Amino acid sequence: MGKAASFYAVEGVDGCGKSGMVGHIVAHLNDGGYPAIATREPGGTPQGEKLRSLLLSGTDDAWDQQSELLLMTAARVEHVRRVVLPTLERGISIVSDRYVGSTIAYQGAGRGMSEDYIRFLHKEAVGDVWPDLVIVLDLDPAIGLARSKKRLSADAIDEGRFETLDLDFHHRIRRSYLDQATRDPDRHVVIDALGTPEEVRARVIEAITLWRTRQAR
Ligand code: TYD
Repeated sequence: MGKAASFYAVEGVDGCGKSGMVGHIVAHLNDGGYPAIATREPGGTPQGEKLRSLLLSGTDDAWDQQSELLLMTAARVEHVRRVVLPTLERGISIVSDRYVGSTIAYQGAGRGMSEDYIRFLHKEAVGDVWPDLVIVLDLDPAIGLARSKKRLSADAIDEGRFETLDLDFHHRIRRSYLDQATRDPDRHVVIDALGTPEEVRARVIEAITLWRTRQAR
């Protein structure tokens, strides 16, 4: 069913449950006989992980927004060239926790940078590499942020830079994802992320199965 190796990206507001979902999708694909690996952005390579800790720690004003965009993109270049493309070439699917949809949402809609510029930079720096399927976990950001802050403080993780931004910022992120999905419906599925983890997982697997069936036609 479907072509063997696909590139999936999981997107959504902070605390929407992406990270657990990425692991679940990978397990589902592997169980079905389709090898897949989990990866994340910013990160996914040794240098990208270093950029991640620089980008996600500290206060909101730690970076100028141009630097933030360029560093997110630099991490993506490393991820795509060293992990995504070689892995797909070996017939192994990629499930990435965030990709360029996050840049369009956070640096574009959130920070107010031009989407045309972000897309131009992506094309020049990364290339014309887009996920085959983007799974948007749609959730009220007020619920996501409460979950996310709880997790960061419980695990003493210093990655809360974006969580410090106000609710309005996070509402713009949510709207951007819905807008990206509306503009490019073939490549996106929007999943209601409100519910128990089991319920949301079942919705995601159903959507992926449907998408793969359509691809196979
Ligand atoms: P992540 O671990 O995905 O956050 P959470 O698990 O809380 O959802 O952290 C990544 C953060 O980086 C997230 O707040 C969004 C931000 N980000 C951008 O602003 N631009 C990007 O291009 C990417 C990939 C992430």
